[in-house]
Amino acid sequence: MKKYEKVTKADYERWYRENEEYRRRVSQDGCRLSYHLMPETGWLNDPNGLCQFHGIYHIYFQYTPFEPSGQIKLWGHYTTEDFIHYTDCGPVLFPDQDFDAHGVYSGSAFIEDDVIHYFYTGNVKYFDRNDYDYIMTGRGSNTVHCTSRDGVHFSTKELLMTNADYPADISAHVRDPKIIKKDGIYYMALGARDVHDKGMVLLYRSEDLKHWNSYSRITTGESFGYMWECPDLFYLDGRLCLICCPQGVEPDGMDYWDAQQCTVMMLEYDFTPGQCSPDAIKDIRVVDRGFDFYAPQTFLDERGRRILIAWMGTAGTDYTNPTAAAGWQHALTLPRVLHVKNGRLIQQPVEELKNLRKNSSTCSLPCESGCRSGIIYEAELVFSRCETMCAQLRNSVLLSYEAGLLTLDMGSAGSGRKRRYLKLNGLHSLRIFSDTTSLEIFVNGGEETFTTRVYDGVLPEGEIQLTINGICEGTLTLHELNGVSWMQDH
Ligand code: FRU
Repeated sequence: MKKYEKVTKADYERWYRENEEYRRRVSQDGCRLSYHLMPETGWLNDPNGLCQFHGIYHIYFQYTPFEPSGQIKLWGHYTTEDFIHYTDCGPVLFPDQDFDAHGVYSGSAFIEDDVIHYFYTGNVKYFDRNDYDYIMTGRGSNTVHCTSRDGVHFSTKELLMTNADYPADISAHVRDPKIIKKDGIYYMALGARDVHDKGMVLLYRSEDLKHWNSYSRITTGESFGYMWECPDLFYLDGRLCLICCPQGVEPDGMDYWDAQQCTVMMLEYDFTPGQCSPDAIKDIRVVDRGFDFYAPQTFLDERGRRILIAWMGTAGTDYTNPTAAAGWQHALTLPRVLHVKNGRLIQQPVEELKNLRKNSSTCSLPCESGCRSGIIYEAELVFSRCETMCAQLRNSVLLSYEAGLLTLDMGSAGSGRKRRYLKLNGLHSLRIFSDTTSLEIFVNGGEETFTTRVYDGVLPEGEIQLTINGICEGTLTLHELNGVSWMQDH
C-alpha cells in the first residue's frame, strides 16, 4: 500500500489475505496488551465515532493495519457489549474518494431516529505545486457525512464542507467534527488553526444535519496553542465542558509537559448568536498527567453515562515505543466514566472492568515486604493517613508522595519517558491499572490521572514485587486481572 494513493476495501482485503505471517508475528509479541485495545497489526491513534447503539458499543479508531508508523488512515472498528468481550469487525471507512484520498481522519458519531450519523475529516494533500506548506496552503480538510443503521454497513459518503466553507482567516487545518444538540439545533465543533497560528474551535449550526452554516468560534483571548485538535463539547453535571487538544502550548510549572496537550475547559456559553467571548472560558486544566494520553472522545451511553476513551499515545514525542520493531504501535485507554465535581473533571474506569478481577488479596499499609503479583493487575490503595509514600509499581517504576508532590518516575522503563509531577492537597486514594506495557493511575477518586506506556521487560506471565513504603496507614487491595477476549468478524 502506498502513501498518498487511495486504498479501497478490496485493496485491504487482498493485503489481509497476503499478510497472515505479519499477523502471526504481532500476535506473538510479548509486549501485547491484555485488556487494552491495540491494533491487530500496524498503527492505531484517535478513538473515533464512539457510541452505543442497540446495546452494542462501537469503538472506531484511526488505523493503519499495513505498518507501525501510521502513514495511511482508515477507521478500524471494534465492538463490545460489556467492555470484556470484544469483536474485531475490521476496517469500515477507507480513503477511497477524491475528498478523503489521503486519510479518513478523525470524526464522531451522532445517533438520531435509529440512525448513526458519522462526521469525519477527509484529508487531501495537493501535489500540483512545489511551494505548498500544507498548513496555510496545499491541504484540503473536507467535512464528510455518512450513516449506518447497524454500525457495520455504511451509506455512501457525502461531502458536506470544503475549505471554501470555512472562514477566510482560517488556515487549511480544520478537522475532527463533533456534534452537540441544543434546543433542537445541531452544532458542529471543528478544531482549527487560524492564519495567525491561533488555535480555536469553529462552531457550525444546522437544522437538519446536512446544511451547515458558520455560527461562532470558541477561543481564548491570548493565543493558547496554534491548533486545537479533536474538540468535544458536551454538557455534564450541569456544566458545559470543552475537551480539546491544543498543540504548541509551552510547559508551565507542573502543567503542559506533553508534546501536545489535552485540556478540559469549563464554559459559560449558551449558544446565543454572536461570538463566544473569551471570558466564557472559565477554567483550563490538563486532563491527564502521564506521557501517553491524547485525542480523547466522549459519548453518552444508553445508561446515561458520559464515557471517555483516549488514544494511549501521542505524536511529536522524543520517547518511543519498542513495539514498533514488532510491527505494531499504540493502544486506547480504558473506558472512563466522567463527572464534574466542584468544577473539576473526575475520571473513573467503567465498573464493568471489575469483571476482569481474579485472585484478590488485601494487606495493610505500609507494605514494605511487598506483595507478589502478576504484571497484569489492579491495585486499590485507600489511605486513612498519608504523610509520605513510595510505591514500586513495576520493575523500576516508582510513584512517590512527599511534601504535597506526587511524582511518577519511570526509572529505566520509560523508553525515553522520565518523570511527571503533580501538586496535591493530600493523597487519599490510588487506583492503579497495570497491563503488560501500560499503567493508568487514578488519583483521589479520579480527580487526577496518569496514563503511560511502560517497557520494563516483564512479559505477561512474569511476576513483580509491589512494595509500598512511607509514613502512611490504610489498605492495599490487589487484584490480578484477566485479559479481555476477542472474536474476529472479518
Ligand atoms: C489527532 C489527529 C487528528 C486527526 C488525526 C489523524 O491525533 O492529528 O487531529 O484527525 O489525528 O490521524
